[in-house]
Amino acid sequence: EIAAPAGLYTGRRNSAGIDLADETALTALTAALQASVTREWFAMPANAQGKVRDVLNPADHRDVVGKVMEVAPEAAAVMVARAAISRWGGTPVADRAAMLDAAADVMQARIGELMGLVIREAGKSAANAIAEVREAIDFLRYYAQQARATFGVEQQALGPVVCISPWNFPLAIFAGQVAAALVAGNTVLAKPAEETPLIAAEAVRILHEAGVPADALQLVPGDGKVGAALVAAPQVAAVMFTGSTEVARLIQKQLSSRTSADGHAIPLIAETGGQNAMIVDSSALAEQVVADVIASAFDSAGQRCSALRVLCLQEDVADRTVKMLKGALAELSVGNTQTLATDIGPVITAEAQGNIAAHIETMKARGCTVEQVAIPADCALGTFVAPTIVEIDSIAQLGREVFGPVLHVVRFRRDDLPGLIDAINGTGYGLTFGLHTRLDATVERVTSAVKAGNLYVNRNTIGAVVGVQPFGGRGLSGTGPKAGGPLYLGRLVTKAPEVLGP
Ligand code: NAD
Ligand code: ALA
Repeated sequence: EIAAPAGLYTGRRNSAGIDLADETALTALTAALQASVTREWFAMPANAQGKVRDVLNPADHRDVVGKVMEVAPEAAAVMVARAAISRWGGTPVADRAAMLDAAADVMQARIGELMGLVIREAGKSAANAIAEVREAIDFLRYYAQQARATFGVEQQALGPVVCISPWNFPLAIFAGQVAAALVAGNTVLAKPAEETPLIAAEAVRILHEAGVPADALQLVPGDGKVGAALVAAPQVAAVMFTGSTEVARLIQKQLSSRTSADGHAIPLIAETGGQNAMIVDSSALAEQVVADVIASAFDSAGQRCSALRVLCLQEDVADRTVKMLKGALAELSVGNTQTLATDIGPVITAEAQGNIAAHIETMKARGCTVEQVAIPADCALGTFVAPTIVEIDSIAQLGREVFGPVLHVVRFRRDDLPGLIDAINGTGYGLTFGLHTRLDATVERVTSAVKAGNLYVNRNTIGAVVGVQPFGGRGLSGTGPKAGGPLYLGRLVTKAPEVLGP
């Protein structure tokens, strides 16, 4: 168990997930995963008409995981109006929190089944799928606990909150946003990413069965146009967004010129992308560096906002470290996400695959050294990208966030460290940052100068733990407050009026 800073941990325990060393648990998990392979899932919003389409497994496009009905943008706007007249805000906070806890219990009990769905719909590896369901459970329980501990008569709900989430944490981030908004007494319009509506629909069903009324939580499947229509609806009181910096900017522009129905500025909680760096100096422990870099850059096929994008190696150890990284890369198992042994699954769509391939070709054309591992032939059934290392000359060559299994490597001289830190800060992003060194003075010097939300020293840079390691970025990486931290719920309520007697 990870020790938490004082004040964050108050007796709550994080989900235990599944102990794969326990034979009984492993047998039950294997059976649940096998049973889920042929199951068909549905995302059908209540009271709405729309186009129905198939959702395909990105690891194998022959596998139809389920069907989604996407609502039209006009229908989405009507759903916001419906949310505005819900009586959910009058439900006592203890009851709202109890519903989140009940939903968390159901997710824990159904962990194998939910894992089966995120493996097929989002192309997650089994290990990532366990972490995904655990994190969703943790968000539900953490926000329930925070609401019980901090909400009193002086807080009032804001009104209808639009929650827009990405595909890369299709259950955890979706459930985290929705749980926080609901427990604060707000009604929720939950728009999952178009790539992963099925697991979102299942989360909504679980919350409804746990007691959340249908008009308090509405699933709104659809693409970016549907998201834009939700944001544009006049009754909207707040927007919670996790996704790209570009879309966050569009939403912020939309909201900045408006006020809510009761006259307040409309808050936007935006958690966005990064150009995450790690600095490794010549005192670092090489084997630890390699394990942490591989996890940071390639876990989840690099499709984490927290993933390492650029590794900065002190030149004295660069050749040795790159050689070791290439060796470790060749050992990774890429492919079929149904087996527990797979390390790296597909990228989410053919479009993402094409964009990443185009970036790699551009870097080759610029003369960069590129190392790619071979991947199995059956990867052609889905949208896989071979894990890749690209050696570059400077941070300025990075360009846009490349959301996939591509690690850039840059070399630096020790006397260039201040310039390197300026270049990292100069990207404008500030999500995660990693440092490997055995020199205390370097830890102090570097961590006090780098502008990032989550700084990791002598470990990997992924997998922040709810309630223990609040997660969120600075600059272009987000508006804060940090998800899974004690300040989050405060953005989702307003002050109740003082009623004064004579
Ligand atoms: P995206 O911005 O393309 O889409 C995110 C969501 O926004 C989707 O639901 C999409 O339908 C919706 N959307 C698109 N256009 C919209 C518009 N005009 N108005 C309203 N909604 C709109 O991002 P993505 O590709 O789904 O996710 C990957 C991105 O998310 C990466 O940049 C990654 O770094 C970021 N991310 C950040 C965090 C974090 O916590 N900081 C976590 C996960 C992902
Ligand atoms: N919270 C996720 C991580 O830390 C994005 O990897």
